Amino acid sequence: MKEIKNVDYGLEKIFKGAKDFLPLLGTDYVEFYVGNAKQAAHFYKTAFGFQSFAYKGLETGSKDSVSYVLKQDKIRLVLTTPLNSKSTINDHIVKHGDGVKVVALWVDDARKAYQETTSRGAKPYMEPTVETDNDGEVIRAGIYTYGETVHMFVERKNYNGTFMPGFKKWESDYNPEGVGLKYIDHMVGNVGWGEMNTWVKWYEDVMGFENFLSFDDTQIHTEYSALMSKVMSNGNGRIKFPINEPAEGIKRSQIEEYLDFYEGSGVQHIAVATNDIIGTITEMRKRGVEFLSTPPDEYYKAVPLRLDEHNHELKEDIETLQGLGIMIDADEEGYLLQIFTKPVEDRPTLFFEIIQRMGALGFGAGNFKALFESIEREQQKRGTL
Ligand code: FE2
Repeated sequence: MKEIKNVDYGLEKIFKGAKDFLPLLGTDYVEFYVGNAKQAAHFYKTAFGFQSFAYKGLETGSKDSVSYVLKQDKIRLVLTTPLNSKSTINDHIVKHGDGVKVVALWVDDARKAYQETTSRGAKPYMEPTVETDNDGEVIRAGIYTYGETVHMFVERKNYNGTFMPGFKKWESDYNPEGVGLKYIDHMVGNVGWGEMNTWVKWYEDVMGFENFLSFDDTQIHTEYSALMSKVMSNGNGRIKFPINEPAEGIKRSQIEEYLDFYEGSGVQHIAVATNDIIGTITEMRKRGVEFLSTPPDEYYKAVPLRLDEHNHELKEDIETLQGLGIMIDADEEGYLLQIFTKPVEDRPTLFFEIIQRMGALGFGAGNFKALFESIEREQQKRGTL
């Protein structure tokens, strides 16, 4: 049987060259504003297998805020908490709860990225700023996207330090092993009623992205609720941002629930890739990560048919997948395995997806119904359906 390789979008797709006015090398980091970064860092180390990487706080001369940087393979999370009531970070946390503030993108030229995007209408967040230390310089610039979320452009080609100026290496005596998370596959934004196409156009016009997949409410619905989604990708395919908006249903859509609790648009989920989802989920469950409930038996009975339709052979044992609650979807190119955590904070807002691509390029559209029914069971418990 032919080996199905995981997709490397960066190499497979043809770079758009002259048309791509905003070449992106990848995701640089994702920064969360949280109420207690010290405790959040412990959670992401223990439960998600991240490693201590860099730190900034009172000990390094940062008087207003503290940040912990965690790393697992290519993924870098930054957890930031204000150190006094005057910091504007407080306003973000009061309004949104813990959540994603910055989706930072790695670029070769941050000044140019800022110029190209602001000249196309992006609202500035931070003008190009050079930060230096003994290890070189990092240039960053930022623009607002949906809600209060920000894209920061990070240029680090002249930097050899651990993370960036202002941070020191974070040495810890507590170093749980990784769980096999590799890189960020995609990050999804929830935007308000009727705003999806505005943001699709914004990513096209301002960032040079393309809309390469769309799902409407006739495809994404359950008995009770519906949503619409369009997937935006940059020129080389390394950055993929699906954008969701709620659609009318009998009951309250999960997107609406998110918007109510986040009090605005924001990042809904971060999908991280693994090469061994069975090993990864076995370990994460052992470490206390909570996942959405497993789809019913009928779902798993239908899986072989869905794979047959596309002539793919499942390499994993289906009973093992079912035992762990992992879902399966197939398309022309191959299949994918995925599972979703419950929200990782008390407000039902941000959650994670763990995904293993076995050739498939999609986002699990065939699982949407099963997934949303599972979310609705949770909404039912919360009294928010
Ligand atoms: Fe996803």
